[in-house]
Amino acid sequence: MAARHFLTLNDMTTTELEDLVDHGSKLRNERRRGMTRDSLKNRVLAMIFEKSSTRTRVSFEAGMTQLGGAALFLSPRDTQLGRGEPIEDSAIVISSMVDAVMIRTFAHETVERFAAASSVPVINALTDEFHPCQLLADMQTYREHRGSIRGATVAWIGDGNNMCHSYINAAAQFDFHLNVACPEGYEPAEALLEAHRDRVTLVRDPADAARNAHLLVTDVWASMGQEDEQKSRERAFRDYQINPGLLAVADKDAVFMHCLPAHRGEEVSADMLEHPSSLVWDEAENRLHAQKALLEFLILNRLD
Ligand code: CP
Ligand code: NVA
Repeated sequence: MAARHFLTLNDMTTTELEDLVDHGSKLRNERRRGMTRDSLKNRVLAMIFEKSSTRTRVSFEAGMTQLGGAALFLSPRDTQLGRGEPIEDSAIVISSMVDAVMIRTFAHETVERFAAASSVPVINALTDEFHPCQLLADMQTYREHRGSIRGATVAWIGDGNNMCHSYINAAAQFDFHLNVACPEGYEPAEALLEAHRDRVTLVRDPADAARNAHLLVTDVWASMGQEDEQKSRERAFRDYQINPGLLAVADKDAVFMHCLPAHRGEEVSADMLEHPSSLVWDEAENRLHAQKALLEFLILNRLD
């Protein structure tokens, strides 16, 4: 049987995604109660990181250990991937020795090529285009605090980047409406917008996006790989900040999320992360629980 991969949210059905989110909450509760499980005993996850990471690395590595397995950190600096060994050759070899592979890289095509040659599940842990693992955690967090997101309005404030793209996919999969406020020239991919015209409203003024929204989300103005654009982006995004003023036009029970790392004073005001509406720390912790659910699903083909 061909391995299931998780390269975007579209690799799962809505039911599978909702089951994953529920299972993530179950794993969170089990851990809170001090329960342990060894569902992935003797299983190994290879983690290929071509970009930096704190949350993703710690959550996948800790998650595998907590489920009785192990994780290998592989960087291009000290593997043959960094010296030009073809992606497909690497995929055949690595996947013959481990039970799943997680990749954080630049071009989305890299994870697609790796997955096409891999005999085990491949997980996209962020590419320039998508960050689906973060959305599992975000959807779990919203549900734990506010119940179902179905029918809700979500406001994305800022860059039409990898996170925004995954929010567009999530809007379709989890059945909510997404308002995107971004400056001209920083829109999400045209093809994605086109495919989800009924789900996504593009505006310029952050207040228009945030009005009556139930969830406000943002991300850094310059993503990894765009460090050279930091200054020009600071100018373009100056008015695109989530702060208590913007929150005031949202629904009275609105919550705030950010995948982190955050740049206080840029896309988010310094007081926002500790604001009563902020869920960012739970959101970050849920990377662990949501991905443990994902690893069980992909490696065992079931949720225990
Ligand atoms: N949110 C997220 O993916 O964080 P890291 O870059 O620290 O993994
Ligand atoms: N958009 C950000 C997300 C980091 C988790 C980046 O790609 O750098």
